[in-house]
Amino acid sequence: MTIGILKDSYGRAIRDLRVSVTDKCNFRCFYCLPHGSPEETAPKSQVLTYEEIEFAVSVFVSLGVEKVRLTGGEPMLRRDIETLVSKLARVPGLKDLALTTNGFNLSERAAGLKAAGLRRVTVSLDSLKRAAFQEMTGVDMLTRVLDGIHAAQRVGLAPVKVNAVIVRGHNDEEVADMAAFAREHGVHVRFIEYMPLDSGHGWTRERVVPGAEIRAAINERFLLVAKKVERGSETATRYRFADGSPGEVGIIAPVTEPFCGACSRIRLTADGQVRTCLFSKVEHSLRDVIRRGASRAEVAEYIESVVMQKEPRHYINETFFEQPARTMSLIGG
Ligand code: GTP
Ligand code: 5AD
Ligand code: SF4
Repeated sequence: MTIGILKDSYGRAIRDLRVSVTDKCNFRCFYCLPHGSPEETAPKSQVLTYEEIEFAVSVFVSLGVEKVRLTGGEPMLRRDIETLVSKLARVPGLKDLALTTNGFNLSERAAGLKAAGLRRVTVSLDSLKRAAFQEMTGVDMLTRVLDGIHAAQRVGLAPVKVNAVIVRGHNDEEVADMAAFAREHGVHVRFIEYMPLDSGHGWTRERVVPGAEIRAAINERFLLVAKKVERGSETATRYRFADGSPGEVGIIAPVTEPFCGACSRIRLTADGQVRTCLFSKVEHSLRDVIRRGASRAEVAEYIESVVMQKEPRHYINETFFEQPARTMSLIGG
């Protein structure tokens, strides 16, 4: 099979596809979906079937996509997600298959996901304290999520990454403790700046904890060493611990240290819309194209034309910035 190079109009190669498999979630993280799934969740008939997702992914991969991440909402709420994982694991040319989850039932499903062909997982975990976890996520599930992280490690869904969105006044005092968690359990903890993508429109600039502050807070307790000089298209700047301890930390700072210039990402929503940026104002219905019965070549051509429309960057820091209508739970992180 020949593999192409999917490039946008700024010369950025698109290697990373995020596929949201459901827009529903059972958590109520205030930085994402504070009031629960909105009424406008897509009707079932509009949601891509596993066969449609497999077809779309295989075309993306033939065009140069190397990495697929399954997201939601909460992807484990989609029935029998293991079936989709096993289909995608067999797509020729796909190099990496990951899944982002809130971890609520990962301890029961980690082994099955691994057996289906999943490579690795990323688990959201914003606090190590039961009360703060509940306050941030709306659910009392800290223990279950921790069990899920440990189960993922046991079955070898490695490296296990942990995502923590840091919000002023909620968990900014816990940053060094979470770095200690990375060391103790040998996981990658990534600290993420709060972005204006929440359905409650509660984002303010004052609530963003800058990456530089996060880095300093960790360094005060554990000396960090930058892992790579070349960051490439990664979202995180990565650090290991100077004393050689296991684990690593990453800082994802889209607000204060934007990384759009090297963006390699594109997204497919559960209802089959291609989003060329987290902050896109327009979407492109791949679902309509597929359901019209387009051939593989026509679908490829459509994707190439959509990618050419990828935005240069986000405008969070401009006075004219307007939050996109779709929230993170509908786009998939
Ligand atoms: P890995 O390959 O596992 O390192 O994936 P990743 O770095 O893409 O990580 P993940 O999908 O877990 O993304 C982590 C967080 O970074 C997301 O939850 C978002 O908050 C943020 N993020 C991911 N992709 C983008 C992006 O393209 N733009 C912006 N602004 N933020 C992003
Ligand atoms: N800002 C930054 N990251 C967010 N996520 C969800 N909402 C936001 C936001 N407003 C991230 C969480 C989760 C992933 C799916 O999306 O880290 O792990
Ligand atoms: Fe890419 Fe858009 Fe994210 Fe910037 S904001 S890194 S262009 S997806």
